[in-house]
Amino acid sequence: MSSETPPVTAADPRSIWLADYQPYSHVLDKAELCFRLAPKGTRVSARLHLRPSAAARGRHVLRLDGEALRLVSLRLDGQLIDLTPDPTGLTLPADLLPDAPFVLETEVLIDPVSNTALEGLYMSNGMYCSQCEAQGFRKITFWPDRPDVMTRYTVRIESDLPVLLSNGNPTASGPGWAEWHDPWPKPSYLFALVAGDLVACRDSFTTMSGRKVDLAIWVRAGDESRCAWAMDSLIRSMKWDEEVYGREYDLDVFNIVAVDDFNMGAMENKGLNIFNSKFVLADAESATDDDFARIEAIIAHEYFHNWTGNRITCRDWFQLCLKEGLTVFRDQQFSGDMRSHAVKRIEDVALLRARQFREDQGPLAHPVRPESFVEINNFYTATVYEKGAELIAMLKTLVGDAAYAKALDLYFSRHDGEAATIEDWLKVFEDVTGRDLSQFKRWYSEAGTPRLEVSEAWEVGEAGEAGVYTLSFTQHTPPTPGQKQKNPRVIPIAVGLLGPNGDEIRPTEVLEMTEVQQSFRFEGLTARPVPSILRGFSAPVLLARDSSAAERAFLLAHDTDLFNRYEAGRSLAREMLVAQLTGGADLRATWAAALAALIRDESLDPAFRALTLRLPSEDDLAQALSERGHLPDPEAIRSARRAAQDLLAGGLSADLPGLIAGLASDRPFLPDAEGAGRRSLSAGLLALQTRLDGGAAARQAFDAADNMTSAIGALTALLDIGAGGAELAAFAARWQQDRNVMDKWFMLQAALAAPDQAVELVAELAAHPGFDLKNPNRFRAVFGGLSANHAGFHRADGAGYRLLADWLIRLDALNPQSAARVSAAFETWPRYDPARRALITAELDRILATPGLSRDLGEMAGRMRA
Ligand code: PHE
Ligand code: ZN
Repeated sequence: MSSETPPVTAADPRSIWLADYQPYSHVLDKAELCFRLAPKGTRVSARLHLRPSAAARGRHVLRLDGEALRLVSLRLDGQLIDLTPDPTGLTLPADLLPDAPFVLETEVLIDPVSNTALEGLYMSNGMYCSQCEAQGFRKITFWPDRPDVMTRYTVRIESDLPVLLSNGNPTASGPGWAEWHDPWPKPSYLFALVAGDLVACRDSFTTMSGRKVDLAIWVRAGDESRCAWAMDSLIRSMKWDEEVYGREYDLDVFNIVAVDDFNMGAMENKGLNIFNSKFVLADAESATDDDFARIEAIIAHEYFHNWTGNRITCRDWFQLCLKEGLTVFRDQQFSGDMRSHAVKRIEDVALLRARQFREDQGPLAHPVRPESFVEINNFYTATVYEKGAELIAMLKTLVGDAAYAKALDLYFSRHDGEAATIEDWLKVFEDVTGRDLSQFKRWYSEAGTPRLEVSEAWEVGEAGEAGVYTLSFTQHTPPTPGQKQKNPRVIPIAVGLLGPNGDEIRPTEVLEMTEVQQSFRFEGLTARPVPSILRGFSAPVLLARDSSAAERAFLLAHDTDLFNRYEAGRSLAREMLVAQLTGGADLRATWAAALAALIRDESLDPAFRALTLRLPSEDDLAQALSERGHLPDPEAIRSARRAAQDLLAGGLSADLPGLIAGLASDRPFLPDAEGAGRRSLSAGLLALQTRLDGGAAARQAFDAADNMTSAIGALTALLDIGAGGAELAAFAARWQQDRNVMDKWFMLQAALAAPDQAVELVAELAAHPGFDLKNPNRFRAVFGGLSANHAGFHRADGAGYRLLADWLIRLDALNPQSAARVSAAFETWPRYDPARRALITAELDRILATPGLSRDLGEMAGRMRA
């Protein structure tokens, strides 16, 4: 790392551009690797079987990527070569290279112990572990470290550790060594190696063509009892991908390893998925329903990558959404099938709005397929993943289920074994449907959330004749960094109509909007209908529609589309709170009455009621205010939101104890959707009850809890009213040995501290003996907790900003990737008042002025500042 990093601007000279893509000069026919593991000096020998590519026949240099490697020797067809690497790799001049196939052998030394960036080969709790996506393989050996260079790997590992794993199938082993061969060509980012003292939870799966696959989840001794759910989820995922997408697994073994120190959630390395342990390990005592659901989804996600990502990979990193958007979409479908589609959709949209809409509205906005980057790790974002998944969903809506299935079959058969692009992806849909998708492609190239304005007209029919109802839409996408001009997009708008008595008079129909402004007529109506627009959230747009609180309450009571029913409740709550904060009409009574009716309606799924009961978060409200041109006042937002909770609790005071008791069950804990829904509603109601009884019921619930979901629900309710000290202490006493559980303890305190205490508390948590700067989960628990504490983080004197910046700078020296991710806490600065803006930008400038700043954090701070 250089000691002086130039300031990063929008046109950073270090930027890499999609437009500059060039195919690689050579073909890598196969590769053999040998690892002699040692903590401070691991020796990596590589044999690369190369030949010039057809396009590059003749004289061409060979460029290999390589970082932080000590080159021991380099041989070309057996001949020693004396070349000195530069800081980012090695160039073999053209006059050294044969115009025919040749073998390049390298030997390098690397230092896994000092690798705190957790990229390349590193150590975690005494085990060796690799992380190569996106560009980590170049920290293991000299290589063409780009996804369009795919090859077959043979790997030998030498170490005294008992478990030695790599990709593909095991081929041979003996005391102190093991060999693996992966028959499927893959890019280097899918390489993985694990060595450690691990134990396996085993099972097997027989594929649709009758092949038996040995499944293993590798964990540290003592964690075996927490693997059952992940294994169950894996088997269901394998079955689902056969049934729904016709995709069969293609190796003899499938291994999953849990590691404690990991920058991301998990990684889809071929045949050897590596997981952040918090997304594998679960049992009723230590994991919440949300943990169980997330484990199921991430196990599925990584498994699904075997086809969407591994068998068909990305040509270059600009195409990241090709594998991520599609794989997120697939894991969302899977979770919906396993649980409830409506509930899953509501949760996914809530996340999309909280994270992706927020990103799209700020300085970090970028297209689903970006055109340039400085550090690709900074583009594993909600936009690439979650909005990327929305684009797949829209495409499916536009072409229909049957054509979607055909297009996917064509995609798999046409591109299997290839490194593909978004153009390839869209082409299969064009070929199957005959549609022109050039307008749809704008969704990939243009950033920003379109704003969809709606107006309506009702023409009463002549006496005895039917009336005509017209919906008119206008789309507008505000400018985003580097993109001033936006073009109209194709937007699928799912609409249904309700009659005045609440019956559905027109079932869902998808209107296809392609112009800036467009009207759609509904004829033959006997009375003016109430529209239910954007059902199922059929497009990732911001629906701007002036409608009355009464109409929202009507839809909340009657809409047949559960998503829009939720949406009516959410928008009613939001409008009520925005009105409270901006001096608008008082909508509290309408809101409280509508919500109370919903909560009491036992015909509705408890999970649905729990989600609808949840008020918009403080950050959501800040976003809503700024969309309407108001400056958000964090303290006022917090007070208004809490006052609304008090009002609702007061109105329900007579019902709460009975409702809560009615949701209790004496069946043992099961992490299924039904039980999770009940517990989720129960926790929401307990939080209201706690606002009335000072915590009596919550304390009882905490003491009686026999599962983590109920314990966390009760603890959250207590912390939220400034109580819970004794419970926190009891929790820590019971769980202090358990890293994953203690992350919850750190996170809850940071996120729920009173605004005037949050900064001091977080500073204390960071000084706690259990705080570990090298562990990304712990850092995110504490500082992600702080940034989730809206009023605490945005304290008027800037102490929250200062504390976060201090710790980002500290973390950056060890782990740039994690520091850069957490720095997005600052992305909302343009929303706030001039004083806060000045305070945040001063912190960003301080970060930018830090000597030795990483490319990762430098790019993020620079983009936020631009
Ligand atoms: N590809 C991983 C996933 O989506 C995410 C990841 C990216 C993990 C980079 C590690 C590093 O599942
Ligand atoms: Zn993924």
